[in-house]
Amino acid sequence: MPLRPGHPVLGPPGATVTGIDLSEEGIRLARSLSAELKIPAEFIRSDLYDLPKVLDRRFDIVFTSYGVLIWLRDIGRWARTIARFLKPGGTFYIVEFHPVTLIFDNTEEATDLRVGFPYFHRPEPIRYTGQGSYAAPDAPYLSVTYEWVHSLGDIVTALIDAGFRIEFLHEFPYTICRHFPFLEKGADGLWRLPGREDSLPLLFSLRAKSAGEREPFL
Ligand SMILES: C[S@@+](CC[C@H](N)C(=O)[O-])C[C@H]1O[C@@H](n2cnc3c(N)ncnc32)[C@H](O)[C@@H]1O
Repeated sequence: MPLRPGHPVLGPPGATVTGIDLSEEGIRLARSLSAELKIPAEFIRSDLYDLPKVLDRRFDIVFTSYGVLIWLRDIGRWARTIARFLKPGGTFYIVEFHPVTLIFDNTEEATDLRVGFPYFHRPEPIRYTGQGSYAAPDAPYLSVTYEWVHSLGDIVTALIDAGFRIEFLHEFPYTICRHFPFLEKGADGLWRLPGREDSLPLLFSLRAKSAGEREPFL
């Protein structure tokens, strides 16, 4: 039985945490939440691809969640960067929107699954314009975003090429937000395709171990 996202697969609480993000505002908010909740953590503002220039430590666990891969142009370099920061035998865990969901129209006008975008990676990003952002959908401005699709095969192969051993890859028929306007929210807070719960993966999770013997390269 696949573990539900949120299940504690990473071990006991009490870790010393270092978080990274590109956004100054995101880091500022993370620091203020950390102080307010009295949960100590270090936060570093950096582009993922520049992180080896500003951080020189190795960790037991690298974790990423929901909505990080579409912003990254180079999935191979992403995987090698994770390997660079793990101790030998360290664990990488990701829970993420399933890339197959990216091919469907998710505008407010969508009433059913309609293929609108490619599944396979292209070097050129897909340009979207829309109101606000995913963090502030009602904000009174138009935004332009550039996104890259990475297929599940590309993601898994990038990790294997970076020296990881995949321990599991789970796919889930529900998601954590209203990804399409026609999804329905269940009593458990998760969103599903009404009447077709088993027809499409909406999330995936993957756990991998760093083999350690291979010298990571960027
Ligand atoms: C959808 S959010 C992730 C949300 C988070 N996982 C959660 O569950 O709340 C994507 C984040 O990736 C960050 N980001 C995008 N490109 C990045 C990059 N090249 N390096 C570091 N962070 C990046 C954005 O600033 C944003 O905070």
